[in-house]
Amino acid sequence: MRIPIIAGNWKLYKTVAEGRELVTGLLAGLGAVTDREVVVCPPYTALFPLGELLANTPIALGAQEVFSETQGAFTGAVAPQMLRDVGCTYVIVGHSERRQFFGDTDATVNRKLHAALAGGLRPIMCVGESKPQRDSGQAEPIVTAQVRGGLVNVSAEQLLNVVIAYEPIWAIGTGDTATAADAQAMHAAIRATLVELYGDEAAQTVRIQYGGSVKPDNVDELMSQPDIDGALVGGASLKADSFLRIIHFQ
Ligand code: PGA
Repeated sequence: MRIPIIAGNWKLYKTVAEGRELVTGLLAGLGAVTDREVVVCPPYTALFPLGELLANTPIALGAQEVFSETQGAFTGAVAPQMLRDVGCTYVIVGHSERRQFFGDTDATVNRKLHAALAGGLRPIMCVGESKPQRDSGQAEPIVTAQVRGGLVNVSAEQLLNVVIAYEPIWAIGTGDTATAADAQAMHAAIRATLVELYGDEAAQTVRIQYGGSVKPDNVDELMSQPDIDGALVGGASLKADSFLRIIHFQ
């Protein structure tokens, strides 16, 4: 039984004060959520104060990025144990915006994923195809290759702590969601790849989130699909009411 996981990716939004306001609103409206996991991923600058606010609450803290080394002369970098230190349990790796604007490749994503696991964090590894790749019928081989590339040398035991997020690039921030059927088809292809790599039992435990314009009005249909185990939410996670509605999917 996979416990659904709804994560908010705040991207480059929210000061500390704005983050406090959002988290306070989420905690106020959350109620009892025993059958799903909730994560927020603020920018680095807000992690420490929000980690204090979220301690002993049902909302987990995640970061949006991590470096692959634990210390050293790496100006601007943040290491996994530093994220643990401020209360993070999750970290996003390989988001398409990191691949597009910050040079992430499957190889660097794989290194960051290993570093995150070694540092006691649960990575949310993002994969997804571009519009031209989908239009040319390449979406599935490209996404499953990203899955394989990101999971190089990850053991079946480590896999238990990995979440995969399928985020078609053309659906991110565009309002143009994949249909529930198309998303399900890709999630099934990702799971089939996991079965090949790790066997059926391990593959069935992995949560695969969908991301890309998840909103209050499409979350229920997406979450009703058998291989969609959660959502990675950008824009709609920035307001308490819309994120709460997504968290409370039917
Ligand atoms: P979006 O972003 O919900 O704004 O499309 C999702 C993401 O990039 O994780």
